[in-house]
Amino acid sequence: MATAFADITFTPSVKAAQSLYGSREANSRFELADDPGIGLTEPEIEFIGERDSFYQATVSEFGWPYVQHRGGPEGFLKVLDAHTIGFADFRGNRQYLSIGNLNFNDRISMILMDYPNRRRLKLWGRVRIVHESEDPALVSQLAVPAYRARVERGIVIDVKAIEWNCPQHITPRYSKAELSYLINPLLEEIAALKAQLAASNDASKP
Ligand SMILES: Cc1cc2nc3c(=O)[nH]c(=O)nc-3n(C[C@H](O)[C@H](O)[C@H](O)COP(=O)(O)O)c2cc1C
Repeated sequence: MATAFADITFTPSVKAAQSLYGSREANSRFELADDPGIGLTEPEIEFIGERDSFYQATVSEFGWPYVQHRGGPEGFLKVLDAHTIGFADFRGNRQYLSIGNLNFNDRISMILMDYPNRRRLKLWGRVRIVHESEDPALVSQLAVPAYRARVERGIVIDVKAIEWNCPQHITPRYSKAELSYLINPLLEEIAALKAQLAASNDASKP
């Protein structure tokens, strides 16, 4: 049985490229799996809940891919069940490129990055756009109460495939909060040492 990942991504043209460049056999392991690997399990659920941003790709009517960066407070991308994730689409620049694309083609591809731990998760899904008038309970489930941004709609993603990517070439990067967590003990130590030094300088004065 093929993994859902291979079912979606291994098109005839992709397989031809694998054959041309000699990796067809190595990649066939994705087509001979015991489990299609569609549902989100504990590691994915935890990983998704910790994200404060992701990149999403949609496809335009003209066939152009369009990649947008989405951000919000940590956990704004929510797991609704083992096959469904979603987020509140906050009011932004009102160009509606992704929404317009999704109204035409509901397919989405996402990459979620964890730079400090050099991990990345790829997801493919089909999107349902939900307005408050249609399902207020669902839109309020996706909202982030502490975040002062206007929710225009909910984006609900029926997850069709997932794939963990290798850590290669991910440069560890840290957010301000992550840096503070690492640096604060050092700053406290420096302050204590400075105080100690000042006290011993005082004590040595005649
Ligand atoms: C006032 C303002 C607020 C924004 N807030 C967010 C936000 O909370 N999250 C986010 O990912 N992008 C935010 N953006 C930038 C968005 O990427 C963008 O406005 C919008 O979502 C565009 O989507 P599109 O490129 O698919 O049309 C904001 C932009 C503006 C001008």
